[in-house]
Amino acid sequence: MEDDKFQMVRKTVEAYLLTEKEKTQVEALFGRHINKGQLKYLKAGHLDVLETHRQGVRFKDAATGAEMIDCFTSAGCFNVGRHNKEILEALDEALECLDMGSYNMVSPYKMAFAKKLVSLAPGDINHMMFASGGGDAIDGVIKLARGATGRKEIISTIKAYHGHTGFALSANGKEHYREHFEPLMPGFAFVPFNDLSAVKAKASKDTAAIIVEPVQGEAGIFVADDDYLRGLRQICDDLGIMLIFDEIQTGFGRTGKFFASEHSGIVPDIMTLAKSIAGGIFPNAAILYRDIDILTDYVNKNPTFHPSYSGGSDLGCCVSLKVLEFIEKDRLCENAEKMGSRLKGALIDLMRENPKIIKEVRGRGLMLGIEYIHEFMGPMMSDALAKNGVFAAYSGNAPQVMRFMLPIIVTQEEIDEVINAIRAALKSMKVLLPFALPAARIPAIRDMLNNEHIQTVLFSWIRDIEDMVKKGLKAIERRLQ
Ligand SMILES: Cc1ncc(COP(=O)(O)O)c(C=O)c1O
Repeated sequence: MEDDKFQMVRKTVEAYLLTEKEKTQVEALFGRHINKGQLKYLKAGHLDVLETHRQGVRFKDAATGAEMIDCFTSAGCFNVGRHNKEILEALDEALECLDMGSYNMVSPYKMAFAKKLVSLAPGDINHMMFASGGGDAIDGVIKLARGATGRKEIISTIKAYHGHTGFALSANGKEHYREHFEPLMPGFAFVPFNDLSAVKAKASKDTAAIIVEPVQGEAGIFVADDDYLRGLRQICDDLGIMLIFDEIQTGFGRTGKFFASEHSGIVPDIMTLAKSIAGGIFPNAAILYRDIDILTDYVNKNPTFHPSYSGGSDLGCCVSLKVLEFIEKDRLCENAEKMGSRLKGALIDLMRENPKIIKEVRGRGLMLGIEYIHEFMGPMMSDALAKNGVFAAYSGNAPQVMRFMLPIIVTQEEIDEVINAIRAALKSMKVLLPFALPAARIPAIRDMLNNEHIQTVLFSWIRDIEDMVKKGLKAIERRLQ
């Protein structure tokens, strides 16, 4: 591809559509210089879309020009919509006089954002620190809990996803992410999610923190029961343990409240925030904590225990402040609640109509998941949905669960478009079921189909064959013209 094309992309997004040959070149270069395996994985699941014309709830595939509704949103980064003009204006304005700023320096931009953010936080959470990203925020909160309590043990949940940095990876509850890097940080124990007695059995006066996602995202959209969170709060109060909520995916209106913890009324001691904190426009992340001596004393005595030059930058804080104002002004939490219940209701109807495909529908607000009967149905549905103008990905830790995490600015008409697309995708899935389901009844074949690596290889082959057929048909078409 000529360099001109990249220059053009920068100047006018309207022009950013690629020919098939150019897309192949981009992919070949991506594979060569960035990640061949990832490319294969994306292709297998029909997720190999080149995003362009990002606007509101949609983007276009630069290779086909097809419009897609974004139900993935980079797992919750675009709550305020793609390429949000108001947030971009805030960045533009900040760029006129600011850069990132020197880290750890006092700054009115950091201060303005912090003041607004803690005003929205539950209970007596009125302190914050910055971090460079989600994993870094998780590292910071585990250090904070260990440093403040002087204890070592951390309790996390099975299939939890907290990131890939040191402490965060150690708190990740899926072997898949951890296996090549053992030994990780010591002192981490894992218990089943939503199981209070398992926590009770593990928690002690050696426990520094219990960390949970109020709605598990990558694990496959599991909502924490209010009683479970209440029970965790009680255990933590009884034993002097820090309760940490990872709200990196659930924050900023995603579940129908500003923070997911508000549904239960349970106030954690410490919270992590990232992703939609800056509307998908400029990186930022935060750690929030309660106004309790054990935490404030520790931070005051150790002010540089977790610094970041990029987290809480002046530019990032201007953008993040605008995100908060935008969510409030447009009452997006209420919208997420309303649109979420419309979508969830429709998904439950579809589940009843398609018992051989959908096992369960779960979630809260616009953090919804469909669990399919078989794992291999996740990639199949991603493909079917993409063909119907919907970009939806299956969960990282549970391929049988597809997440629907649309921008929370979504309108009723757009939700209905998604529902119609899911209905159409299910119809096309049914055509394949007479072949897939009998095969899946044979345990050895089912295990094979449900194996992530085999899925990638198998679906890659199917994709190669599809691409070959497509090319063949096009060649015939050209000859006939
Ligand atoms: C719940 C949760 N915690 C932590 C992280 C890690 O964030 P990052 O990728 O910014 O390190 C993620 C990212 O997907 C997440 O969803």
